[in-house]
Amino acid sequence: MNSSRTHATAFAPASVGNVAIGFDILGFAVDALGDRITVTRVPTPGVRITGCSGLVTELPTEAERNTAGRALLALNVAVKPDFGFEMHIEKGIPLGSGLGGSAASAVGAVVAANALLAEPLPKIELLKFAMQGEAVASGSLHVDNIAPSLFGGLVLTVGIDQPRVKQIPVPDGVMAVIAHPHMFLSTQQARAILKHEVAMSDFVWQTANLAGFISGCYTSDLDLIRESLNDVVIEPQRRQLIPGFSTVRSAALAAGALGCSISGAGPTMFAWVPRDEATAVREAMIAEFARNGVEVDHWVVPVQSAGARVIED
Ligand code: HSE
Repeated sequence: MNSSRTHATAFAPASVGNVAIGFDILGFAVDALGDRITVTRVPTPGVRITGCSGLVTELPTEAERNTAGRALLALNVAVKPDFGFEMHIEKGIPLGSGLGGSAASAVGAVVAANALLAEPLPKIELLKFAMQGEAVASGSLHVDNIAPSLFGGLVLTVGIDQPRVKQIPVPDGVMAVIAHPHMFLSTQQARAILKHEVAMSDFVWQTANLAGFISGCYTSDLDLIRESLNDVVIEPQRRQLIPGFSTVRSAALAAGALGCSISGAGPTMFAWVPRDEATAVREAMIAEFARNGVEVDHWVVPVQSAGARVIED
C-alpha cells in the first residue's frame, strides 16, 4: 500500500536536450548517470531540504530556490497531502554540463514523493510539477530534459500548458556516445546569446531536418537520420563556447557517427552511432578533445531506457 511508505528514493537519469534539431522539445535519457532523491514523509506540512551530497553540495536549501524543492512545492500545492516532505538530494550529474542535471533533480523529487501518496499520479501530471523546478535553473519553461528523464528513451514534447509527450522509437542498434568536458557552462548564458530571429532558409532546413529525423526513427532509416541530424540554427551560435567543437564533430562523423552535436546548452557533446562504430567514435571524440587540451568523461549508452523510477522504499 503506497500510503504506508515513510520514505522513497528515486533515480532520475541525465538527458541530452535538443538532440540537435529539436530545440527545447526533443531529448533522450542517459541512464549511465543520474540523481538520487530521497523523500521522507513527516508530520509537519510543507517541503524541507535536509541536504545535498554527491557531485554537488552547494545547492540552495530553501525549497523555493532549489529545482527539486520548487518541483516538490508544486506537487504539494496541487495534492495538499495531510503530511509534509523532507528531501535529500544526491547529485550524480555535474551542474552546468548540458546533461540535464537540474531536470533530473526535479524529476527525482516528484517521482519519489509520488510513491508516498495514497493515490499516486500518472507521470504526465508529474511532468508539469517538474517543469516548475526546471524553470528555477534555466529561467524558462522547457521540457526537453524533463520529459526524457521522467519517461525514458527519446521523447518529443508538444505544448507547455498541456504538454503532450510522445516516446519516439529508436532503430535497433543505435547507441549514443556522450563526451563531457571538464568545464562549466551556464544554461542561462548559453540561452542569452541566442538570436531571436531565424532566417527563412534556416527555418526551412531545420524543419525538414526535424521531420526527417523523426521519420527516420519511425522507419529505421539510418541514411535519413544521418542526413537530417544536423542543426543549422542553434549549433552555429553556440559552438564557439566549446573548445574544439568543430574538429570533435568532424572526427566523430569521420569515424562513423550518424550525427554529432551539442548536448543541451553544452559543453557536453553527443553522437548517435550504429553499435559497431561506437568505440571508434568515442575514441575519436576523446582524442580530438585531448588535442584541444580538454579532458572528458565519456559513456556509450543505448538510446532506449526506462526513465525515472523508485529504487528504494
Ligand atoms: N533546450 C535547452 C537549451 C536545454 O538548449 O537551452 C538546456 O538544458
